Amino acid sequence: MNFRFVVTVLAASVTALAAEAPAAAAPPQLGRAKIKDVVAAMTLEEKAALVVGEGGGFGPPPAAPGAVAPPGGGVLGATQRLVPGAAGTTHAVARLGITSSVLADGPAGLRISPTRPNDPNTYYATAFPVGTLLASTWDTELVARVGKAIGNELLEYGVDVLLAPGLNIHRNPLCGRNFEYYSEDPLVTGKMAAAMVNGVESQGVGTSIKHFAANNAETARTALDTHVSERALREIYLEGFRIAVEEAQPWTVMTSYNLINGTYAPESRDLVTTILRGDWGFKGYVMTDWGGGRNPVAQVAAGNDLIMPGRPAQRDAIVKAVQEGRLDVKLLDANAERILKLLVEGPRFKGYKFSNKPDLEAHAAVAREAAAEGMVLLKNAGAALPLATETKSVAAFGNASYETFSGGTGSGDVNEAYTVSLAQGLERAGYAVNADLKAVYAGYLKLVKAGRPAAPARGLPRYVPIAELEIPADLVSSMAALADVAIVTVGRNAGEGRDRTNTEGDFRLTEGERRLVQRVCSAFQAKGKKAVVVVNTGGSMETASWRDLPDAILLAWQGGQEAGHAIADILSGKVNPSGKLATTFVVDYMDVPSAKSFPGTEIPGAPEPEQPPNVPPGFRRPKPSTITYEDGIYVGYRYYDTFGVKTAYEFGYGLSYTSFDYANLKLSAPRFDRKLVVSVDVKNAGRVAGREVAQLYLSAPSKSLDKPAKELKGFAKTKRLAPGETQTLDFVLDARSLASFDPALSAWVADAGRYEVKLGASSRDIRQTASFALDRQLVVKKEARALVPKQSIAELKPPARQQAAPARAEPRQPTPNDTLQSPEVLPDKRVTFRIYAPKATEVSLSGDWVARGLGTDGHLNEMRRMHVYTPPGYDASGSAYPVEDAASFECRLP
Ligand code: BGC
Repeated sequence: MNFRFVVTVLAASVTALAAEAPAAAAPPQLGRAKIKDVVAAMTLEEKAALVVGEGGGFGPPPAAPGAVAPPGGGVLGATQRLVPGAAGTTHAVARLGITSSVLADGPAGLRISPTRPNDPNTYYATAFPVGTLLASTWDTELVARVGKAIGNELLEYGVDVLLAPGLNIHRNPLCGRNFEYYSEDPLVTGKMAAAMVNGVESQGVGTSIKHFAANNAETARTALDTHVSERALREIYLEGFRIAVEEAQPWTVMTSYNLINGTYAPESRDLVTTILRGDWGFKGYVMTDWGGGRNPVAQVAAGNDLIMPGRPAQRDAIVKAVQEGRLDVKLLDANAERILKLLVEGPRFKGYKFSNKPDLEAHAAVAREAAAEGMVLLKNAGAALPLATETKSVAAFGNASYETFSGGTGSGDVNEAYTVSLAQGLERAGYAVNADLKAVYAGYLKLVKAGRPAAPARGLPRYVPIAELEIPADLVSSMAALADVAIVTVGRNAGEGRDRTNTEGDFRLTEGERRLVQRVCSAFQAKGKKAVVVVNTGGSMETASWRDLPDAILLAWQGGQEAGHAIADILSGKVNPSGKLATTFVVDYMDVPSAKSFPGTEIPGAPEPEQPPNVPPGFRRPKPSTITYEDGIYVGYRYYDTFGVKTAYEFGYGLSYTSFDYANLKLSAPRFDRKLVVSVDVKNAGRVAGREVAQLYLSAPSKSLDKPAKELKGFAKTKRLAPGETQTLDFVLDARSLASFDPALSAWVADAGRYEVKLGASSRDIRQTASFALDRQLVVKKEARALVPKQSIAELKPPARQQAAPARAEPRQPTPNDTLQSPEVLPDKRVTFRIYAPKATEVSLSGDWVARGLGTDGHLNEMRRMHVYTPPGYDASGSAYPVEDAASFECRLP
């Protein structure tokens, strides 16, 4: 048969049909026709409409089919269409059966408007714990259950895609959105994200893992050019995304606001097409962050399929570029196809009859369980916790005891029906929270808030802290006489659009907070009663200067709407804490390797940026700025452990009401061949049931590349072990776990040599070690050369590897012969000191020390029972605050 002839005849008859009877040529319908055919039937304008969201951001809404103007064009929760308060919607093309899909935030739960005009119903969603807390559970099964509950709320409220999880690396503790993210470590990040994605998507809705990539600061976030090496990108900043993509195939990925090595993330074909789709095999669609990038045509060409929230000008630019031959329509078609492929999977397209009535009670129970699992017990001297059974009355100090933060601000916030405060949680657990003290705080908080201006209706919300109430010493003493125990809650909040600062009231305590902690602890301890500090924050903060004061410290993070119940569960002992830090708590902010470069600097002489129409505060384009990641791969514990920097609480750290023994570390083979199974027995050696997080670190030989002292390559959480019970945990190491990214080869390479396996309860509490050999170098995977920096980056280089670390010694009590190295009083009146022991070993040591110094207030400050990590050569070091002069300072055994 003459093929050309048939085609011509067919085409001719189609044209004829269309001309004679347009109604008969029914266009293909999405869901029935092949997606390719639907795209082929779309006009250029329809394609451009599909790849640009319906608006509802800060621009006026487009006059597109079905679009409805959001009142006032608000920013967050802008859309009023379909699901009010969702973040955005995609365009419908009714002619082709293409419906709109609804996208809504965020990482701690669904963010939609809780009420609607002229509607008596409410639409509350569950506020789950924030990302930092979820990661601290180290429990992927639990995180998947949280995801399942969130996914169900999407389904029942008519939302198709959750704009979460957020999985940027905690490069610096001051990033304002760290609370939304998981960890400083890419393995924890990737595993948590994969679990969350799988949980959410089990409900038949989608996720959007974000913000892809290297979005580690909020300052100037939409104009920040991040200079970062290929190795740091691959090993640290992309790795979590890779794991999430390979293990969970999320429906969508959201590109970040920043530029990477000179190109906006959504405009980077290297990022979106070469790495994400090429190297990792991502099958879903990619969307911009809200208003991200500058050039819509470059975004389409990069393979960033959907531009959100969308402006008419972006659509017009795409149409024009195709018409003028600057944009190949095939690229636009591919983007449209990818969007449609997932649109048909969404519950809206499928016509799911959502109830608007998810089971909020059941989800609150999941939120409570997760919150308690991720809280981290940082200190528990003299077994102060759980509260003794005879404890009846509690004096609760600190604003956040009464107004406990459930989560951070911005798009990661949730409109929940309630938040259980710490005080309410304790009351419901049967404790008498001193009512008079409660009334003092209630009156204070009410008055302060009454005098404040209302938050602006548009723009990013910002948390303005309320100063701690000054509680006079007399009142503290009375409380110490009246109550059985004291709790001081230190609260911090942060959020989108703004970074935190290394200042008092943010990363550090204010003078008022310090006084409160000091007064309460000394008054209660003087009466033989315990004082507990609860830290209610989304990110890390300084603890080293005051942690010696309380008997116990519970890092409660921001536990979602059930925070107070979960805190009470831990304090009462109903739940044995099992959370561990997935992010390091440093001694001093300046110890952070990125402290000097964070959060970047404005480019001198750069022109004022043009502003899109109608931009509210918080979304104005900042001046072009830049940041260089000179810390390279040395982020978090990779830095502290390799460079021998002391930390306040190391990565992986967390206490329990019981203790665990590790034994029988076994490797499946002495030499590595494709994979190796590591197993270890973890035994509950204490008197109460509990769970332990065991961590597998690997020290790799360093041949061509420098290597961190150790890197996390696996983790596992035991089930609830009864006293005396043992569980064998297995970890699988594959070739990838041994490899580092060698930019010279653009490949993951495992060097030949000996690999040391370190099984620990934290990154600095290694309990069992073993080693295996890799006989020859392995090139594990070649990757495309992409995102190459335009100029070379002078990255941190570690000191030459030290001799193999000495075997772990049993904790040793210091003796009076140990010498106190000359204490130093810092400008902030903090005294730091070290106690040197001649026989230096790397030991974890908790001793009944008393360190005392004459405080600036003329009182003798005392610290007891330090639990300290000691670098080789020192047995103990610590700090006291505030001390008048070094001469007044002494440190002795009681
Ligand atoms: C945030 C995203 C969020 C989006 C929609 C942006 O400002 O960076 O994380 O998903 O808004 O609310």
